[in-house]
Amino acid sequence: MMANAESMLPRSMMAEPDQLRILDQRQLPSETVYLSCRETPDVINAIKTLAVRGAPAIGLAAAYGLLLGRSENLAADALLEEFEAAASSLIAARPTAVNLAWAVEAMMQVVRRLHREGFPDDWPTRLRAEADRLYQEDRSSCLEIGRLGASLIPRGGRVLTHCNAGSLAVSEFGTALAPIYVAHDAGNPLHVFVDETRPLLQGARLTAFELMAHGVPCTLITDNMAAHVMASNRIDLVIVGADRVAANGDAANKIGTLGVAVLAKHFHIPFYVACPFSTVDLSTARGEDIEIEERHPNEVTSLYGTPTAPKNVQVFNPAFDVTPASLIDGIITERGLITGHLAEGLKRQAEPFA
Ligand code: MRU
Repeated sequence: MMANAESMLPRSMMAEPDQLRILDQRQLPSETVYLSCRETPDVINAIKTLAVRGAPAIGLAAAYGLLLGRSENLAADALLEEFEAAASSLIAARPTAVNLAWAVEAMMQVVRRLHREGFPDDWPTRLRAEADRLYQEDRSSCLEIGRLGASLIPRGGRVLTHCNAGSLAVSEFGTALAPIYVAHDAGNPLHVFVDETRPLLQGARLTAFELMAHGVPCTLITDNMAAHVMASNRIDLVIVGADRVAANGDAANKIGTLGVAVLAKHFHIPFYVACPFSTVDLSTARGEDIEIEERHPNEVTSLYGTPTAPKNVQVFNPAFDVTPASLIDGIITERGLITGHLAEGLKRQAEPFA
């Protein structure tokens, strides 16, 4: 698969010794601007405002963010306390994507080990190595998801996707878009239909942008066109990402995904979820137990600062919805493709790593 650099696609983040450079996705596709984050609150702010977004990407940004601005000459207990406080604030930045808490917890396990050792002089290097490891692990997972998922796309297949689960949402390559990139690079003349994804247009601004940068043929539609496009026999399969997959296979993803899944079932179109295993949360039994983030009404009442609704109108703005396992034909993780009984498949994939 082409690396980001070769496909002219900017990386979602770049870790440097004393800062994390985060691609400001709010400005895409018009501008490619990197924010310089030098302290944990800079990263928290970038996550809350969706400068960085997408489940794996916010986890990785938080992993690096935990390191930023720590005082190196504090006593061990005080430093641990500082880390605990930073970790809680990072985790609280967004509630739905489990990758955020998962990555921060992986970092905190190393922090606690370092604390037991009295924070030896090389602790920043060792902690940084853990963040780099998480980044590389995400990258390999995406490559594997791409390889496994590509075989699901028939030659010349027409794939519908929702939101952005591409390179911009992860370390590199993406989850839902990785199979598309692999199949495209292998010569499959596929075509992608991209849901615009209201209210924040991640499909239009980000997915269409990155598919075009990679040379993948695509067509942008507004969300309310999906039914027509499926009814008129223009879609062969759907692949979306996920923010959290519960133990029973229910999957939370960007608001609107549930509608796409219902439509796909109606029109007998296979519906797949692609995600790294770090998105699977076996401690959450069912989708209804997943906390759904609600965001500010102005995301619904305006576009780029221009009002599109009457002032003070009442608004409901959930950022995610939950697709029940019964509407999902398969889940692609780096550990394999799960079809049939999703809960059993997830449990089987977890076992060798327990
Ligand atoms: O609010 P966002 O843009 O962070 O939502 C992103 C999504 O819903 C993605 O589909 C999901 O995080 C998977 S990213 C590989």
